Order: sequence, then C-alpha cells, then structure tokens
Amino acid sequence: MSSPGGGRRLLIRDIAQLATPAGTSAPLRGRSLGDVDVLEDAYILCSDGSVEAVGRMRDLSPLEGDVEELDARGRCAVPGLVDCHTHACFAGDRVEEFALRAAGATYEELHAAGGGIMATVDATRAAGEAALVAAVREHRTWMLRAGTTTFESKSGYGLDRDTELASLRAIAQAGGVPTWLGAHSVPPEFSDPDAYVDYMLAEVLPSAATVAEAADVFLERGAFDVTQARRYLEACAAAGLALRLHGDQFTEQGAVPLAVELGARSVDHLEATGDDGVRVLAASEVVAVLLPASALFLGRPMPPGRALVDAGAAVALATDFNPGSAFCESLPLVCSLAATQLKLSPAEALSACTVNAAHVLGRAGRVGRVAPGHAADVLLLDAPDWRYLAYHLGGRIVASVVVAGAPVELP
Ligand code: NIG
Ligand code: FE
Repeated sequence: MSSPGGGRRLLIRDIAQLATPAGTSAPLRGRSLGDVDVLEDAYILCSDGSVEAVGRMRDLSPLEGDVEELDARGRCAVPGLVDCHTHACFAGDRVEEFALRAAGATYEELHAAGGGIMATVDATRAAGEAALVAAVREHRTWMLRAGTTTFESKSGYGLDRDTELASLRAIAQAGGVPTWLGAHSVPPEFSDPDAYVDYMLAEVLPSAATVAEAADVFLERGAFDVTQARRYLEACAAAGLALRLHGDQFTEQGAVPLAVELGARSVDHLEATGDDGVRVLAASEVVAVLLPASALFLGRPMPPGRALVDAGAAVALATDFNPGSAFCESLPLVCSLAATQLKLSPAEALSACTVNAAHVLGRAGRVGRVAPGHAADVLLLDAPDWRYLAYHLGGRIVASVVVAGAPVELP
C-alpha cells in the first residue's frame, strides 16, 4: 500500500453520495452553515493519512502503484464527526438518579442535595488513573461506533489536584482533546466557592495547562457565579488555555456577555438564552455549542437553534456525553434532534458537528471536511441519501469508519 511518497494509499470508490461542508472557511455562519457540497458517484483518495483527492468516478484517472480499495457502493460518505463537548472521563454511573428523575426529581434538586455531579466525583476519585484511561477508551469506542472520529473531553469529576490531572492525562492518552473543567462544582471539602477557585488556580492550573488545550467553567446558580467564572477564566487564559463556558443551561447568569468579553471559543448549552443573548452571540466570534441530547435527557426546553443560525451566530452541535445529564454518545442522534427540535436542516446539522465543531477545538483545516489536505477521517453511511444521518432517528447509520486513511474495525 504505497504512495509515490512511500505511505499507505486507500481509494474509497463508487460512493453513492459524498457530502461535505462547502468552502474552506470556518466557522460557517448564517446561510453558509447549510452549504454542503454533494458529489454523486464519487471517490476519495487517501494518502499517508490525509485526503489526496476527491472527485467523480468518471473523472478518476488510473492510479499508479499499490492502492488499497474500499467499495462504497450503496453507501454515502460524510466527514468523520467531531464531538466538541463531552465529559467522557468518569467512573461509575448515575442510573439510580436517572430512575429518580423519571419519578419526578429534578436534576438541580439532586445536585443541591449533594448527588448529581458529586456522586460521579466520588466514584472518579476512587477509580485510579488506570481505570480512568480504560473508561475514556471505552467511551471513545462507543463514540467511534457512532461515527465520532475526533472528540473533546472535559475533566471536572476530580475537583482535587491529583484526580483532575489524572483525568486530563487519561483523556489525552485515550486520544481525546483535553479541556480542564476545574470549575465544575464546589466539592464538599470547601465551604466557599472562592476558596475553591483560589486552590484550583494556585495548585492545579500550572500543571493542568501543560496537558489541557482549553478551560471550562459551569456558570450557573448552585455552581459558580460570573465573578468567580471571570477570575477562573482570566487566569486560565493567562496560562495559555482557550476558553469555554457552560452557560445559560437553567438560568441566564451572564455567561454570554462574559464569553464575548473574554473572547471565549464557545459558550455551551444556552437552553435558557433569550433574544438579547442570541443577538449578542450573533454579533460575536463566540461559537454557540448546542447540546439537544442534554435538553432531551433532562426534559428541559431546547436551545434557540434556529434563531441563532438565522441571526448569524456560529453554531456547533455536540453530545455533552456524561453520566448525569446526557448519557448519549451519538452525534447522528444529535443531528436528528437538531432537525426535529431545533429546526436545523440536515445540511446545517452536518456542518455544525463537523467543521464548526473542529473550529471550536482549534482544528478547522485539519478535520471536519473531506477535502485535500484534511485528515482522511470518513464515515460510510448505510443509506442511499446522506441526509439519513439526521433522518434515521436512532438508527444504526454508520456502516464503516475510516480514520487517518485506514478502515477501522468497529468493535
Ligand atoms: O454539561 N451542567 C454541567 N455539567 C454537565 C453535566 C455533568 C453531570 O451531570 O455529571 C453538563 O450537563
Ligand atoms: Fe457539559
């Protein structure tokens, strides 16, 4: 399997439809979010892990040298999906809490009573680093089966020095993009959130900044307020980290203006965002990361996805995969929710969980498009039309996954 440069070459041939976000810019916003190039009867030529060329089968000239072939007849190809918001580093589960919520308890009540996130913190602290690596790897496998080839994961279930750092290392070791969510919740050993933020910034940030690419904070009543969030994020930015925020999940507490003020990469959730927040985001560079599986799982209102896109905001979609508020690793399901609940078109949903999500992770131009020079991360869908990605609600849509130009055995 060699290219003129000596590396492996793979030809994905006879693809019924190849769909990829149009153009070369990122993030896509407004009308351009729905601009998807669709090529019928297509091929993708991969070389040394990257896309070398794409085109119509009829325009494919004979290839020299060894080329492995992958027959994609009856399949559609889209870029490997990019999940830019997960909490994949945790031990244990919250199935008891899930049952309690089904019986009427709310997520915020359970959190206030010391359950919720803190239950996962207890299990994660007790697990040890090897078990955390194994957990992230297992979750990565689930994501890969659902078509995610690039994933971010936050820490945030350690909330002490050793477990936060072990979590970040585990995420990196399992191939994820690590985000330091040191300000997820105030653990019981601190009665005062400010003292906890002081501890995190003094004792954990210097080491966290050597592993993580970004920092995140849960800005919400019962978690951190806007003053604490600003202090935490400003220190993280000074240490070289990109900034993210969990904001407007239950209430508007100033997350959107803070994100704009600090030049954050994204503000995520936005289920409670009103018209002003939509306008402010649309006029900014901050990406609105929407997590409809989380809204669904908690029985909460959906974020204003259509309004954000129409106003011109840059929108991305992610799973929020975690044991409490979104035990869901499937971006295809999130695309279905985007179409049915947020009223995004299948094309807008595709761009939102590929190129725009890649932008949130600082990887636009490397992943999120099937285009020359990009990583050859490609999904073959078991579908005659690529829009089945959103249409086939909860279906087993991913037939094969190619990562860095190599077909992956799906476990
Ligand atoms: O994004 N809301 C804050 N954090 C996570 C949930 C974490 C958990 O419940 O374990 C979220 O929904
Ligand atoms: Fe989250």
